[in-house]
This record gives sequence, structure tokens and C-alpha cells, in this order.
Amino acid sequence: MNKIAILGTGAIGQLIHYQLNQSIKKTDSLCFIDRQKTRCHKVNVTTLLGDILKYDANFINAQSPQSAFTDIQLLIVCVKSYQVIDALVPLINQLPPRCHILLLHNGMGPHLILQEKLHASYPTIGLSLGTTSQGALRHTAWHIEQTGTGLTQFGHHSGPLMVESLKARLLNSIDNAQYCESILPMLWQKLAVNAVINPLTAIERCKNGALSAERFRLQIDTIAQEIILVAQHDAILLNKAALIQRILDVISLTKNNFSSMYQDITHHRRSEIDNINGYIIQRAEKHRLSVPENILLYHKVKDLESI
Ligand code: PAF
Repeated sequence: MNKIAILGTGAIGQLIHYQLNQSIKKTDSLCFIDRQKTRCHKVNVTTLLGDILKYDANFINAQSPQSAFTDIQLLIVCVKSYQVIDALVPLINQLPPRCHILLLHNGMGPHLILQEKLHASYPTIGLSLGTTSQGALRHTAWHIEQTGTGLTQFGHHSGPLMVESLKARLLNSIDNAQYCESILPMLWQKLAVNAVINPLTAIERCKNGALSAERFRLQIDTIAQEIILVAQHDAILLNKAALIQRILDVISLTKNNFSSMYQDITHHRRSEIDNINGYIIQRAEKHRLSVPENILLYHKVKDLESI
């Protein structure tokens, strides 16, 4: 039996829930952890084929007594990067000792705080990290639409390994899922994609595809070069030509999308800049490196956030 819980009911949390629910066996169980809901709720999903599917999702209230959490084997964290620590830390002591946590969010940073906390106080809880390029839009609180397929990569980070049955469950349920023996280089590559596309589309107020114009090439090159330098000091080697090609490929594959940061800024929501270019700046400061282009983008987005 696998019991999986998902923290975060945004578009990606609901999409992952839907995909796991599709492959659920009678002996498995699946739920959301939520601050408000307690029992069961109808979830609506518009699939890539345009069908609207409805099903009942179970909930555990985040304030429930420990007994509600006892058999959770895997907790998938799909909240925004800046919410991870505040949402997760109060729950950790409710989790059973052999539970495993998978962080699945844009940007980087919370894993450093979490790995220390787990190591110091909960050494039997393992930590995996992941990234997804699947596209999903939230129409209403409980109606999402899958808008694109994309790679989902996950792999071990610290503490005990994820058990094989859970790994298999994720690989069999999530479209285009891949287990990576070494996940940090994958997260740095995705970070570079986000560090270019997200702030530039938010600042220029454009769709991702507009960044394929020649006038952005030098800037993309400079941002990527700064990231490669910082990653190298964090013991991650990235190939410049391959990284720039990947960024250009994502720009082209998602040309009709408005990036998540564009959407956050347009809707006057907090963006994930602190965990994207902000994380690069933080690591650069640690290694005493200079990253002026990332600093410029960071401040421009911070200015937009305050409007
Ligand atoms: O944050 C986003 O919008 C996405 O991660 C990406 C890959 C930039 C596509 O829009």
C-alpha cells in the first residue's frame, strides 16, 4: 500500500494529484493536505484532449491530530517556493519517521534549509527534489486545465532513499517522468531556464516566444554565463552551448505561454524571483562572485512587485 499526500492545491498540485489518482490501486491512498478542507471535495480537470473529468479528492486538515498523518509514506510539496518552509516545517513533526518528502517547485533554496532541519532533528525522513515543466492553468479553485506536456524529473537529495514502490508509482503516473541519479544539475538547468524566461517576460510584458528575437541574445548569453560560473562554484558543471540551446528550446516550445512570473506580476501577486535570480545572487555572494545581470533583473522584478 502507498499513501501519498500532496501539500499545495495550486495548478501543479492538482495536476499531480489527478495523474496519481488515475493510476490508483484499491490498496493505495491519496490526499491533499490543506489548511481549510477536512474531508472530500470535487476536483475538475480539463485534459489535454479537452475532456472535463470530475472526481472526489480526500483531504487531511493541516491542523489535524498526528493520527491523521501516521501512514503517509510520501509527501509531495507543490506550493510556491517562497511558501515551502512556512507550509512544511509545522507539519514535519506530524509525519511518520519513515516518511519521504519530495519538493516540486520552481526555483531553488528551500532544500538547503530543509536538509539541515531533517538532518538535525528528523534523520529518518528522506528528501528528494524535483522539477516539472508540465503546463497547467487554474480556472477556479477546483478546476484546472492541463495546458502542456513536459518533462518531470526527480531524484534523491539527502537522508534515506525513496522506496522503490513509490518511485515506480510516480514514474508510472506522471507523464514524461524521469528518475535522475543526480538531480542538482537538472535543477540548475531548470533554474537557468526560469532565470532567463521569467524575469524577462515579466519586465517586457510579453509571451515566452518574444524572447527568441535577436535583441535578447546577448542578454540571455550573459545571464547564462553568470549562472554557469555560480553553479561551477557549487560543484555543478553546466555546458554553455547546451544550456543556451535548452533555454532557446523552452522559449520555442512554450512560445504561446505567459510565464508564471509574468502572470504573478500581472495579477499583483508575489513572484518567485527570490528563489530564481535571488538564489543565484545568494550563491554568488557566498562564493564572492559578481552577477550584475541577475542583480539587475532581480531589482526590476522587485520594483514591479511593489507596484
Ligand atoms: O515558470 C514558468 O512559466 C515555466 O517554468 C517556464 C518553463 C518558464 C515556461 O513558461
